[in-house]
Amino acid sequence: MLTQYNLKMPHAVYGGENAMDNITAIIKARGAKKVAMFTDKGIEGAGLFALPEEAVKASGAEYYVLDELPPEPSYMAVQKLVDEFKVSGADLIVACGGGSVMDAAKLASVLVTDAYGVKELLDNPGMAQKCVPIVLIPTTAGTGAEVTPNAIVAVPEKELKVGIVNENMIADYVILDARMIKNLPRKIAAATGVDALAHCIECFTSNKANPFSDLYALEGLDLILNNIEKACDDPEAMAEKNRMQIAAYYGGLAITASGTTAVHALSYPLGGKYHIAHGVSNAILLAPVMRFNSEHPAVRERLAAAYDRCCHEEKTCTTVEEKTAWMIARLEHIVKHLDIPTSLKEFGVPAEDLEGLVNAGMQVQRLLVNNMRPVTADDARKLYQEIM
Ligand SMILES: NC(=O)c1ccc[n+]([C@@H]2O[C@H](COP(=O)([O-])OP(=O)(O)OC[C@H]3O[C@@H](n4cnc5c(N)ncnc54)[C@H](O)[C@@H]3O)[C@@H](O)[C@H]2O)c1
Ligand SMILES: [Zn+2]
Repeated sequence: MLTQYNLKMPHAVYGGENAMDNITAIIKARGAKKVAMFTDKGIEGAGLFALPEEAVKASGAEYYVLDELPPEPSYMAVQKLVDEFKVSGADLIVACGGGSVMDAAKLASVLVTDAYGVKELLDNPGMAQKCVPIVLIPTTAGTGAEVTPNAIVAVPEKELKVGIVNENMIADYVILDARMIKNLPRKIAAATGVDALAHCIECFTSNKANPFSDLYALEGLDLILNNIEKACDDPEAMAEKNRMQIAAYYGGLAITASGTTAVHALSYPLGGKYHIAHGVSNAILLAPVMRFNSEHPAVRERLAAAYDRCCHEEKTCTTVEEKTAWMIARLEHIVKHLDIPTSLKEFGVPAEDLEGLVNAGMQVQRLLVNNMRPVTADDARKLYQEIM
């Protein structure tokens, strides 16, 4: 537990019915003349872009669209978009998409400068200053990127994904409009939902846990454990989808106040080298790493507290050990139920890559130091071996 903590948050968050309409008033209130709208082809193809576009149009401001971004982009791909954005003279960013779009837009919002670019921020994230205010509209539930100070990019030469963290990237406004996730394909809903689950449970069992992060991590965990299956399985389950959207937002707040742990740390090389989607690589590692962590008594105490809060069926577990086992079994069940792979087999990761994975995973000390049970290279090797 941290003894000193803080939580920096967006200026305003709009949720509930027709939340999108607030964009018009935001643009008018800020007196924005030219809006840069970030999105990607997947969002446009799903017909989701029309809603924010209408809201921007209604403000009367000029706008243009930046949509040439691949999922989970490299820092070079993001820089290309930033260069296009820099010359536009836009005075407000509205970004509509999953974590990939939101992270790229967040980087653009601090990079209207020729002094440095995304590459330089990888080495020195502290120097970024907010240049343009930003409105974020998540379409997955999800990364929580709409609320965190983090932007994650692939670094091909390191075969890793790397997080750039700077509070100047915290959004000014967030729009949580459930219409954006209503038709999220099951596969994407499942992977991104388990990402949010990982954020909550990792932050709750993190060395950086504190009263602020616990509040959101526990509430998010409760919402996800009790809604994720229905939200993914049933296209009409709007109440459950709504709860997932709010839970993902809470997961982002938990990250902002504390930090994720070894699940995310060991997951970064899987995204960086094999391009496994962020939510999927976390899902593969989730139960194995939490089982490893549960050897630490402080983690068991926390998992037992999570059980007390989140288990709403008849509570048959009485000991800390039983409650811990229930929680880990629940995580395993969710990943299996949602048909997310539970090993790296189908991604063609050869056995001889093991040492490379261990070395890359151990580089992510930013998150490994948050893990209550220390992770040695030997531990990382065993964990990777378990999922190969
Ligand atoms: N900044 C943070 O705090 C943070 C936290 C976790 C993850 N991330 C990063 O976010 C990225 C992953 O984001 P993601 O999981 O949201 O996925 P994504 O943004 O990569 O999107 C995945 C695919 O789903 C499509 N898609 C998104 N929403 C859709 C919808 N509603 N309907 C149909 N298609 C839709 C996209 O077009 C894309 O093709 C990774 O780069 C990850 O590292 C960032
Ligand atoms: Zn994540």
